[in-house]
Amino acid sequence: MAKVIAGVTSSHVPAIGAAIDNHRTGEPYWQRVFEGFERSKEWMRNAKPDVVIGVYNDHASAFSVEMIPTFALGTAAEFPIADEGWGPRPVPAVKGHPKLAAHIAQSVILDEFDLTLCNKMEVDHGLTVPLNLMFGTPKEWPCPVIPLAVNVVQYPPPTGHRCFMLGKAIRKAVESYPEDLNVVIFGTGGMSHQISGQRAGLINSKWDKNFLDNLSKDPVKLTKIPHIDYMREAGAEGIEMVMWLVMRGALDDKVEEVYRFYTVPASNTAVGHIILENRIKGAKKSAAKGKKPAPKLKRAAARQKVHRIRS
Ligand code: DHB
Ligand code: FE
Repeated sequence: MAKVIAGVTSSHVPAIGAAIDNHRTGEPYWQRVFEGFERSKEWMRNAKPDVVIGVYNDHASAFSVEMIPTFALGTAAEFPIADEGWGPRPVPAVKGHPKLAAHIAQSVILDEFDLTLCNKMEVDHGLTVPLNLMFGTPKEWPCPVIPLAVNVVQYPPPTGHRCFMLGKAIRKAVESYPEDLNVVIFGTGGMSHQISGQRAGLINSKWDKNFLDNLSKDPVKLTKIPHIDYMREAGAEGIEMVMWLVMRGALDDKVEEVYRFYTVPASNTAVGHIILENRIKGAKKSAAKGKKPAPKLKRAAARQKVHRIRS
């Protein structure tokens, strides 16, 4: 049986991708951001997922404003990298898992979630930047990735509650897949940011940190947040965080938070990142515990890395 072993959230700021592609990760501005993901990459090397489900949003790359599906599942064998204006990013094409994706489609749609199925789809920074942050810059991504694109670019996006329930349906689908596969699910986007308009540059660290706390301990509370609160408190693009609730819905009610990182800013955005593990009976020990230094570091180090540019 396949199982969801863990969930990961991460921002997907395109400038992070540009910093990688232009070899600028060592610059002080970027070093602070990339350092926060060193332990995450180590965690990923230990976790060795067989498949990643990447919940992300398309930024008018695969879907123009002419056609915007609410939930679009990538069922293809390969997803080419989109050209977002500077040519496609020099990262490997994303290889899918058509068999598991078809199974998820069947299970989730029969569970009454109306997914759009994408047998051909390009993927943009929303997916490729989190892959870089978690896997580095390999020649090929180390495992298949099933993209799930969520509309957060045109009103109305799905509610946080709908996203959370979709996560639960995805978990049920994964757990009814006969092959033994370890799945890690990503929720991407966020944290607080607004890119245009009067409040462009808005960062609300207090709100972000509270969101991270609840994501870990009390996600049901987050499912009750209306869109207008995301907009007011975290900025127009802060709504991307509903995607984190798809990830959280696919995990146990009680999870182990193994790592957290928060820093401000990367471009216009607060970078928030968390790794949550399911407590699977009889499973091999936490990927975070597999290696030294001791995980005691995790929260303390993450907290030290909090930077504020605005109060
Ligand atoms: C930025 C962040 C995003 O999430 C995005 O999709 C585009 C730009 C930014 O901070 O610049
Ligand atoms: Fe975005």
